[in-house]
Amino acid sequence: MHSAAYFVSAIITSAVLLQVSSVDAIISLYGETIEVPCNKGAAMSEKPLLIKWKYDKSDGSPGDILTKASDPEEANIQATNNYKDRVSIAPNASLLIANATLDDKKTFTCMVVTMGDVKEYPVSIEVQKRPLPPQIRDKAKELENGKLTTLGECIAQDAYPPAEVIWSKDGLPLVDDGKTIMVTMDKDVDPATGLATTSSKLQYRAGKGDVGSEFTCTVKHSLGPDQTSDPQTFSIHYPTENVNLHVVAKGHIKEGDNVTLRCKADGNPPPTSFNFLLKGQKETVVGSDTYTLVGVTRDTTGEYKCSLVDDDNMQDAKNISVNYLDVSLVPSGNIVKTVGESLPVTVQKNGSGEVKVSWTKDNGKLEKQPKFDSLKYVDAGYYVCDFSVAGIKQSRSFQLLVQGKPSIQRISKDRSEDGQHKVLTCEVEGFPKPSVQWSVNGTNEESSYVNGWLTHKITVVPTGNLTVTCSASNELGEDVKSINVSSLFEEKEKLGEGKEDDGDDQAKLIVGIVIGLILAAAVVGLVYWVYMKKSKQGSWKTGEKESGTSEESKKLEENNHKAEV
Ligand SMILES: *[C@@H]1O[C@H](CO)[C@@H](O)[C@H](O)[C@H]1NC(C)=O
Ligand SMILES: *[C@@H]1O[C@H](CO)[C@@H](O)[C@H](O)[C@H]1NC(C)=O
Ligand SMILES: *[C@@H]1O[C@H](CO)[C@@H](O)[C@H](O)[C@H]1NC(C)=O
Ligand SMILES: *[C@@H]1O[C@H](CO)[C@@H](O)[C@H](O)[C@H]1NC(C)=O
Ligand SMILES: *[C@@H]1O[C@H](CO)[C@@H](O)[C@H](O)[C@H]1NC(C)=O
Ligand SMILES: *[C@@H]1O[C@H](CO)[C@@H](O)[C@H](O)[C@H]1NC(C)=O
Ligand SMILES: *[C@@H]1O[C@H](CO)[C@@H](O)[C@H](O)[C@H]1NC(C)=O
Ligand SMILES: *[C@@H]1O[C@H](CO)[C@@H](O)[C@H](O)[C@H]1NC(C)=O
Repeated sequence: MHSAAYFVSAIITSAVLLQVSSVDAIISLYGETIEVPCNKGAAMSEKPLLIKWKYDKSDGSPGDILTKASDPEEANIQATNNYKDRVSIAPNASLLIANATLDDKKTFTCMVVTMGDVKEYPVSIEVQKRPLPPQIRDKAKELENGKLTTLGECIAQDAYPPAEVIWSKDGLPLVDDGKTIMVTMDKDVDPATGLATTSSKLQYRAGKGDVGSEFTCTVKHSLGPDQTSDPQTFSIHYPTENVNLHVVAKGHIKEGDNVTLRCKADGNPPPTSFNFLLKGQKETVVGSDTYTLVGVTRDTTGEYKCSLVDDDNMQDAKNISVNYLDVSLVPSGNIVKTVGESLPVTVQKNGSGEVKVSWTKDNGKLEKQPKFDSLKYVDAGYYVCDFSVAGIKQSRSFQLLVQGKPSIQRISKDRSEDGQHKVLTCEVEGFPKPSVQWSVNGTNEESSYVNGWLTHKITVVPTGNLTVTCSASNELGEDVKSINVSSLFEEKEKLGEGKEDDGDDQAKLIVGIVIGLILAAAVVGLVYWVYMKKSKQGSWKTGEKESGTSEESKKLEENNHKAEV
């Protein structure tokens, strides 16, 4: 079996008809199996007698790898070096080399021997490797404002050809400018594998603007897409340049509020201690940036400052103004006054601004402050005075009662709706509520009492001509008035001054009776005299008119006529 191969190879070495095609180039991946195709894998027109794979040694001499004859179809490995265990041939004549290394960068040639032809197909192989994902080492803990600091070192490991490393800040590449950005590249080749490790050290002069900036490192390689590290952020140290004092309060500051002073410095890390100057008095606060004024008063008003503990000049000031409101109202509480009296109302107010004053009486708004020169029953009520200034509200109040003895304002009579009765109405002013008494018994008693005005009604059936009396009383006194009610139904009649008239009429009645008695006595005397005289004559004549109150009769007659109309 070997004899045939040797025979063929003897022909080949002496061959004159050798044909060599142009060189193909293939890139293989490090560590994987290299497949070197023979004639680009094209199908052979004729079954070859022999296929031989060889390579160019560095000195130019050929290095045999393997041969495969058509019969027996078994590869014969000639290589004695490290290819011995790594090579094999595929059915389609491709040479397979396991575990590619950089040393496999060679030109391999496939020689195909057919019955009258020998062809050679050289393929140049290059082995490459993609780097491992980038790693950032020696990362800086923090950056000092304006100071060139090594931010970190980015490593792209085991690549061929060597990888390129680029630093970026917030997605924009950082280019070495020799001042704020300095990038030091280093390349290290592993002598055993020939793979390169690229490292890039970034030195950076951070500014305050770099707070929150994201630094990344990107590795570029011919094999595959860019690989980017996780973003890194750095805390940046810088000294305080500004101090700000904030007054923390809800809306207007008023007496009794708690007011918090907060001191803010823009340095990083922020200062942890501050001096608070409270109207000249110094308080040092450690481990906090606030100072609380508890329960402020109007005396708290003034200028407040805060500063850095180690630098008094780094300070800020704010004025605090505390609003206040002092009010008083005279009278207050429960006030009882008699109708007709006066009641002075005095309001005093003193606030940190213009004080707004408004009044209500029994929850109804009043246009202006009430004034009581002569109290009326309607003035009684619950008075509230509301004061407000800059978010402070206060109110004062008094309850006013107006009292007075009853005074009958009106007494009247009306025909009832059914025409059978009379409705008598007595209207009385007074407080406390007067009680009303009529001189007759009535039905359907009705009474209402509003603002010291009592209206009392009864329904009566007059059995004759009556003088009806309404008497009203409370603990302060009594008032009485009368009205004449006839048994006949008269037209509506109102009498305002009935009582005085009654007195007048009684006087007239008495005078009338006295005159009547005198006249009667005179008449009796005259009659006796005439009788004595006529007794001798025997006849006398009686007067037609009766003695008595002629005036009263006339009046009653008039009334009778009116009712009949
Ligand atoms: C040759 O065969 C191998 C394995 O049998 C296969 O992976 C490869 O794709 C083939 N090559 C060509 C060029 O057809
Ligand atoms: C290829 O390398 C792997 C590990 O790197 C090893 O286990 C294997 O035996 C090697 N194969 C050959 C044919 O050398
Ligand atoms: C003010 O602070 C004191 C003590 O912290 C607290 O008791 C009081 O309720 C606070 N007053 C107000 C109006 O928040
Ligand atoms: C506080 O008020 C005083 C007097 O009105 C004034 O001189 C001072 O400048 C004010 N301070 C601030 C911080 O406004
Ligand atoms: C108002 O109150 C302030 C502060 O208590 C005081 O200085 C001022 O004299 C008062 N004014 C009047 C009119 O009472
Ligand atoms: C009113 O009625 C009562 C009994 O109901 C009686 O005692 C009284 O005399 C009556 N008064 C008048 C004025 O008629
Ligand atoms: C009521 O009637 C009497 C006589 O009965 C009379 O004297 C008096 O003037 C009358 N009063 C009124 C208010 O009419
Ligand atoms: C009541 O007075 C009227 C006149 O005003 C008279 O006509 C009538 O007779 C009187 N009735 C009684 C019962 O006295």
